[in-house]
Amino acid sequence: MKSAKFLLGLVMVSWAAAAAADRVPPGTDDEIRERLEPFGELCRAGDDCGGGAAGAAMASSGGAMSGEQVYNQFCGTCHNIGVAGAPKLGDVPAWEPRVAKGMDTLWDHTLNGFNAMPAKGTCMGCSDDELRAALDYIVDQAQ
Ligand code: HEC
Repeated sequence: MKSAKFLLGLVMVSWAAAAAADRVPPGTDDEIRERLEPFGELCRAGDDCGGGAAGAAMASSGGAMSGEQVYNQFCGTCHNIGVAGAPKLGDVPAWEPRVAKGMDTLWDHTLNGFNAMPAKGTCMGCSDDELRAALDYIVDQAQ
């Protein structure tokens, strides 16, 4: 069922891409509306369309998030603007003394927390690989 939704999602995505590429589809408005009809029906039948299908696909395939994705969804909440004194992304002077502590320490603090820095940066569902990728992403921007 999930993979059927995923396939449906793929079909919808490629259909949308094709439709966008072909900006002026041939045919009258009525013909175009008719062609769109089955698409609308398919979408209704699959109770959650678009994002739902993509989400299900991601969950069922166990797709890992990239460091940037984890950062944007979780770490950025604090590290974008410096909540509670969090060193900001790309703020090289702020990160310098932290990076100097060594990656092992930064990794330990990412996993277990450090003062106002919460354990796993609040991404309790993240795998170690995803958290490590997020840490690497932050440190990459800090030099
Ligand atoms: C709720 C806010 C918050 C979130 C979310 C958050 N951080 Fe932090 N982080 C902080 C604060 C505050 C500090 C500074 C702690 C200090 O130095 O006392 C910090 C510090 C750090 C440090 C430096 C630790 C050190 O030893 O100097 C790293 C590395 C870090 N965060 C990684 C992450 C990663 C990776 C994520 C996302 C997975 C994340 N943070 C999410 C608030 C946050």
